[in-house]
Amino acid sequence: MVVTISPPEKLDKTTVVRGLSCEWRGQTTEYEGQPVLVIENKHCRAVIAYQGAQVLEFQRRGHAPLLWLSEASNFLPKRAIRGGIPLCFPWFGQHPTDPSILSHGFARNLPWTLYHVTEDDSGHVLTFTFRDNEETRAIWPHAFNAMLEIRLGQSLELKFSVANVDKKPFDFTFAFHSYFAVDQITETKVVGLENTPFLDQLAPEKGFHQLERFPIEFHAETDRIYQRATGEYQIVQEHSKQRALIDAPDCSSAIVWNPWIEKTARLGDMDKDAWQNMLCVECGKIGAEVVTLGVSKVVSFTLTLASSFPEESLI
Ligand code: BG6
Repeated sequence: MVVTISPPEKLDKTTVVRGLSCEWRGQTTEYEGQPVLVIENKHCRAVIAYQGAQVLEFQRRGHAPLLWLSEASNFLPKRAIRGGIPLCFPWFGQHPTDPSILSHGFARNLPWTLYHVTEDDSGHVLTFTFRDNEETRAIWPHAFNAMLEIRLGQSLELKFSVANVDKKPFDFTFAFHSYFAVDQITETKVVGLENTPFLDQLAPEKGFHQLERFPIEFHAETDRIYQRATGEYQIVQEHSKQRALIDAPDCSSAIVWNPWIEKTARLGDMDKDAWQNMLCVECGKIGAEVVTLGVSKVVSFTLTLASSFPEESLI
């Protein structure tokens, strides 16, 4: 079933999407004033904010929640929501030339348009679109069309596409800034970044000259950028058998972040102990792996996330 829709004109309990031959009904609600869509099907339950087309929650049936969402997040319009999967675009981290401009780009702070929904036996696919406007051109002077397809089935799949509709090429960096829920960070490991050079953002003067031979463990604030990475990682927890599987084949940059005690206190939108139950493993193209997009060109990146028990193989 495929329907094409306009964004909801007003907020009510049900978003009715009318297509030519069918109707899709989704539940719209609010998180402290932010309109969000709640999707439930036989495979999963998910919550998605219109702002940033940000997946806030994803839980496969019979599994624990895959993503972490801060209980202290503010949901004010145009403020970044702490948790789920913010999409950092068109720059990751500091603005390339002006550090006073908001970090991680504007895509996560602005409303996207829900353009298209399909629903079948394998779940739902929601397509959100976002394009340049006066506000974005004031801080990033390029014309673009962006699209995020969100596939909600047994796994969560995101496909982010950018088209250059400008008259000259442009550069961008981006990341799927995924926040994962973990039982206890000190008993959590990340597998898949062994023997990969990383930059420690807490000691950047050392450059990309460090690597570790073993899975990453967490004993202090961690903020690392990996390059030339495979895009395939696992988050393994000592006590819970559930693993998070991450697969982003076109994303050669990875960021691993946990703010620990003091940075959590400084952030202001996380409860003081929340660092113990979250971990960011982000996939994208950042730093030297910047993307240059020619006129009329389109580029796409996919991210598949799944929760799995050892005997299953989903991705
Ligand atoms: C991570 C960065 O990607 O995002 C960290 O590596 C940063 O340095 C974190 O603190 C959160 O950023 P923000 O802008 O969402 O507070």
